[in-house]
Amino acid sequence: MCGIIAAASTRNVGKLLVQGLHKMEYRGYDSAGIALHQENSIAHLRSVGKVQLLEEKMIEEKPKSKLGIAHTRWATHGEPSEANAHPHKSKESVYIVHNGIIENYVELKESLIAKGYDFTSQTDSELIAHLLDFFINKGNSMIEAMYLAKEKLDGAYAIAAIDLKDNSNLVVARNKSPLLIGLGTDEMFAASDPLAIAQLTNDFIFLEDGDVASISAEEYKIYDSSKAEVTRDVTHIDISSQATSKGDFRHFMEKEIYEQPEAVSSTIDGRIGGEDVLDNIFGLGSSDLFSKVERIQIVACGTSLHAGRVAANWFSSIAELPCQIDYASEYRYRNPHVDKNSLLITISQSGETADTLAALNYAREKDYLASLTICNVPTSSLARESDFSLFTNAGPEIGVASTKAFTTQLAGLMLLALSLAKSRNLNPLLRGRIIKALRLLPETIAEALLCKEKMIEIAPSIANKDNALFLGRGIFYPIAKEGALKLKEISYIHAEAYPAGELKHGPLALIDENMPVIALAPESEIAEKLISNLEEVKARGGTLYVFADPSVNMDVKAGHLIHMPKCDFFMTPIVYNIPLQILSYEVALLRGTDIDQPRNLAKSVTVE
Ligand code: F6R
Repeated sequence: MCGIIAAASTRNVGKLLVQGLHKMEYRGYDSAGIALHQENSIAHLRSVGKVQLLEEKMIEEKPKSKLGIAHTRWATHGEPSEANAHPHKSKESVYIVHNGIIENYVELKESLIAKGYDFTSQTDSELIAHLLDFFINKGNSMIEAMYLAKEKLDGAYAIAAIDLKDNSNLVVARNKSPLLIGLGTDEMFAASDPLAIAQLTNDFIFLEDGDVASISAEEYKIYDSSKAEVTRDVTHIDISSQATSKGDFRHFMEKEIYEQPEAVSSTIDGRIGGEDVLDNIFGLGSSDLFSKVERIQIVACGTSLHAGRVAANWFSSIAELPCQIDYASEYRYRNPHVDKNSLLITISQSGETADTLAALNYAREKDYLASLTICNVPTSSLARESDFSLFTNAGPEIGVASTKAFTTQLAGLMLLALSLAKSRNLNPLLRGRIIKALRLLPETIAEALLCKEKMIEIAPSIANKDNALFLGRGIFYPIAKEGALKLKEISYIHAEAYPAGELKHGPLALIDENMPVIALAPESEIAEKLISNLEEVKARGGTLYVFADPSVNMDVKAGHLIHMPKCDFFMTPIVYNIPLQILSYEVALLRGTDIDQPRNLAKSVTVE
C-alpha cells in the first residue's frame, strides 16, 4: 500500500529518495512520484507503473535538491494515472504526499473549489495541499497550517509536506497511519516504513497519533495533539541488508518459504524450557492474567485470520477455552457481546492493518480483560497499542503473499495455547508432548521443504487450469483456505476451499476433469471420512492431489499422492501448509505473474 519517504539533508536527496521508494515496492503500488525543492522552484516528477520509470525520468532531468518528498501510490480514489500520483501540489508552491483516506473529502473539496482552488486529480489527497496553501496564505507557518488543516480532516493520514517559501524544513503529521522520523548525521528523514530508510539510519522515532513535526537537516521538533513540544523515544533497529535482499532466490516469496525452519526457531527460542512453556512470555503479568481468562475473541484479516482459525481449535483442545473468531473488518459492525473475562487477540504480520487496528480500538471500549497481539513488527501500532504481545521474530517479510509470517504466527499461537493451559493448570502431559514436537518443528519443516521437486512436477497440471478446489477437515479446513488464498493471490487461478464433508452439499457440481482437487489427509480420526469424500471426487473425474500421512494409502488414479513427513498431530497444520506454499509458488512461476507484488494487492493494508 502507499509509501512515504521524505528527506532534509546537506547532500542531494533525489537518489536516496528513489532508493527508498524501491525499498517500499514490496508494499504494492501502481504509481510513484517525487517533489524536490530547488530554491526557486520545485521539481515535480511522477510516473505510472514501476519506480524504475520514475528513476529514468530523474536520470533524464537530473534535479538537484537537499529537501524532498516522494511516494508510491496504491489507488483508492481515482485510477492509477500520472495526475492521481503523489506528490500533489497547490499553486506550484505547497507539495504533499499522503497515506490513508480522508473521509470528508467531498465536502472539503467543494469548499476549496468555492475558494478558487483548481483540482487536477480524482484523489482525496490533493485537497490537503490546497488546505495547507490556504492557511499558509493567511499568514500561518507550515506547522500552524498543518494543525489548522488537521482540524478539518476526518480519517486516517500520514502526511509529509514542503513549501516553496521554505527551503530547509519539511512538515509531517500522523493520524492512524504509520509515520516515523529517521535520524542521520547532517540529515533527517521521514517515512511510513522503516525499511525505506534502513540503509540510511538505524535510529527511528515512531510518531504517535496527533503528532506534527518539523524536520530539517540539523534538527527535528515534534508537537503532540495539544500543540505542546514533546520528546519521543528513539528506537534503535538494525535491519540487516541481508534480511531485505533476495540473495540467490528468484523472489522474496521463495526466500521466505525456505527461511521457515530458521524463522520458527526464532519464534520458539527462549520461550520454552524443560517440558513446558516459560512464564510471562507475552509480557509481565501475562501468566497471572491467563489464569482468569474464560473466553477468547480473535480478530485478524486474510492469512492472519487463517492462523487464528487454526488456533481457535488449539485453544479449545489444549486450553479448554471457547473461542470466537471474526474478520477484523466485520467485527465492529456486528455489535459483539463480550462475556466477562474475555481476552481479545489480534494477529497481524505488519501490525498496521487498518481493520485490525480499528477492531482493537473498538474493543478497547468494551469490557475485555486485556488485549494481546501476535505480531511480527515490534515497532508497529498494534504492538504499541496492545496490553500484551508476542513477536514472531520472523524477520522482514517482503513478498506480498504471507508465508513465514503465517508459519511463525502458528508457532506463536501454539505457545499461547500452551501458556493458557499452563496458567489454568490443565493437561501437563499433553503440554510436555507438544513442547517436544515444537522443538522438532524446524527440522520437520525442513523435511517438508524437500517436496519441492514433486511440486515442480505437478505444477504444470494446475498452471493450465482456471479453477482449483482445496479440501480439508477440522483443523485442516483453515489450512485448505490458506492454500486456496495463496494460489489465487499469486497465480490468479480462482481457488476455493471447503470442509470436505460439505462437498456433496453443492460444490460437487463443479467437479470435472478441469477441476484439480487438492486435499489434506493427515492421519486423524477423520482421515477415513475424508478419503470417502475424495472417492466421490474421483468418481466424477476430478484430478486429486492428496497430501497425506505415510500411513494413508489410496488409489488416486491419474492424480498424485504426496506423503508428508511424520510428525505429532498438533504440528500437522503447520507442516502441511508448507507444500501448498511451494505449489502456489511453482504454479505462479509457470504462469509468469508478478509473484512478489501480485496485481492489485498491497503488503500492508493501511486503509479500511
Ligand atoms: C495474504 C496476506 C494477507 C494478510 C492480510 C493481513 O498472503 O498476506 O491476507 O494476511 O492482509 O495482514 P497483516 O497480517 O499484516 O495484518
